[in-house]
Amino acid sequence: MQNFLQLFDTWHLIRLFGWLAYFFFSMSLVFGMLSRMSSFKKKWGLFSAIHMSSSWAGLFATLGHILILIVDSYQPYTIKEIFIPFVAQYDRIASGLGTLAFFIIVIVLFTSDVMRSKMNKKVWKRIHLMVFPAWLLMLIHGVVMGSDTKTVWGTSVYWISGIIIIILFLVKSMNRGTVHRKTVSDRSTAS
Ligand code: HEM
Repeated sequence: MQNFLQLFDTWHLIRLFGWLAYFFFSMSLVFGMLSRMSSFKKKWGLFSAIHMSSSWAGLFATLGHILILIVDSYQPYTIKEIFIPFVAQYDRIASGLGTLAFFIIVIVLFTSDVMRSKMNKKVWKRIHLMVFPAWLLMLIHGVVMGSDTKTVWGTSVYWISGIIIIILFLVKSMNRGTVHRKTVSDRSTAS
């Protein structure tokens, strides 16, 4: 019983919410990229819905992750240390990267779900593409700070998610190049 209850102490909960946040944001990135690929045109609605809902789930998990840090008795964070990047006493740089990732995600979600219809498309797109550096910041943050990084499952999750996201990113970038070239050649044939 004692061992079971220990699973719900703040340290375990901080780690659990950190992993959930990383998992949901990675999932959001994967489905966001899949939804833009021509091979999955018919699945666009489903993939976009997964993309949006997993990013909100990731945001709520991050809120859990950082709010429990405030009440943690072993290594408590102040509100300032959580929301102002690079001022935390514990692992200043890696904590700061987590804070930056958090702010980027908040801005991307706000501009996508609340402001999108009122925004210039190019500006919106530029802001939206910030999810890639944000994901990289989360990855570095988790790898550097996590107690589970050295476990087999922890390392595997980082490697597998990293490889999937990099492959999809490359495929998507190549796809985009082909579509762009086609459009340009269509235009020149037409004129
Ligand atoms: C989008 C934002 C964030 C994500 C996705 C995220 C994700 C993660 C992940 C995956 C871990 C590794 C868990 C483990 O292996 O135990 C972790 C650990 C940690 N994070 Fe975050 N994090 C975020 C923001 C923050 C912020 C803003 C702070 C505080 C300034 C923070 C503080 C910590 C701490 C102290 C740990 C170490 C927990 C431990 O293992 O003892 N995180 N985070």
